[in-house]
Amino acid sequence: MNFFLKIFKFLPPEIAHNLALESLNFLYKTRLLRFFYNKVKSEPKVFAGMHFQNMLGTAAGLDKNGDYIDCLGALGFGFLEVGTVTPEKQYGNSKPRVFRNFQENAIINRLGFNNKGVDYLVKNLKSRKYDGIVGVNVGANKSSSQNERVQDYLTCIEKVHKFANYITVNISSPNTPNLRDFHNYENIIDLVNAIDKKASELNIQIPFFLKISPDESNESIDKILEVIEKSQFTGIIATNTTVDKSSLSNISVKDIEGGLSGEPLMKKSTDKIKHISIKSNNQIPIIGVGGVMDFQSFNKKILAGAGLVQIYTGFIIKGPSIVNEILRN
Ligand SMILES: Cc1cc2nc3c(=O)[nH]c(=O)nc-3n(C[C@H](O)[C@H](O)[C@H](O)COP(=O)(O)O)c2cc1C
Repeated sequence: MNFFLKIFKFLPPEIAHNLALESLNFLYKTRLLRFFYNKVKSEPKVFAGMHFQNMLGTAAGLDKNGDYIDCLGALGFGFLEVGTVTPEKQYGNSKPRVFRNFQENAIINRLGFNNKGVDYLVKNLKSRKYDGIVGVNVGANKSSSQNERVQDYLTCIEKVHKFANYITVNISSPNTPNLRDFHNYENIIDLVNAIDKKASELNIQIPFFLKISPDESNESIDKILEVIEKSQFTGIIATNTTVDKSSLSNISVKDIEGGLSGEPLMKKSTDKIKHISIKSNNQIPIIGVGGVMDFQSFNKKILAGAGLVQIYTGFIIKGPSIVNEILRN
């Protein structure tokens, strides 16, 4: 696997990403994966009423369309989050839009919710063989106005809820203009109320999580927590990428527009987990994500208050072996 990883480093990021996942899928489908990769035995965990095979999952964006559910599951992840999906398929921003910084274990991306649309994802959810937990991360189309965006979330929820184990409402991508405005008090109340109403109408019993930005102040997050606590939402995913590049040492990449993920995000996102955990007296279930590159950083998320942990950049930089590296400990 390390040999392939070295080759992928020289390819443009999106080509490398697709080729890597296609190769894994090929190995999975031809039953050859076990010759390259043996998943370790892991500790199950009950979290937010759901039974997880272990505490490590994929973060949204890695498998936006649910094309790789079975092969990612075969790597030993305890759960997978697919999406972000939008009602209509969309191309996303123009390329290049993903930039890897191997020296600092970081990625900057401005993909802009490129995805094949919710109906395509639902087909993949229906045909999956993976029997672990699969969460679906929902978003809004770039072309929708701010009012229409509430409806976009509802449309996705209505279409995916029967085929998902939980739903994540993503208000924190920095690459869809104004999406982060949903963190504002009035806007989040409107959105959460609309989702509550839809969940009651459809008698949706699965948990909802809100995925937040690390760039919000603690005061803003406190207000969001107040709204969440009175709603049908179960918990928080903390956090998405940051637009703050001050933690990067390489000045040549500081001006690249987009969301920063990986090691330079670790402290900022873990601080948000700590804040939410303390503020809610450990009462709000938190899925921690941002900068996990090894067992130590995984453990820091747990110690900060996360009940589960997700990875994206660590998986891209280190490859599938990171799953065993974390779970073996
Ligand atoms: C290339 C790329 C695409 C992403 N796409 C999404 C997405 O569609 N939806 C989402 O909620 N988060 C998305 N994220 C954010 C990740 O889910 C995660 O919150 C963030 O990268 C921090 O975790 P990490 O440091 O382990 O990468 C994306 C991240 C990257 C690097």
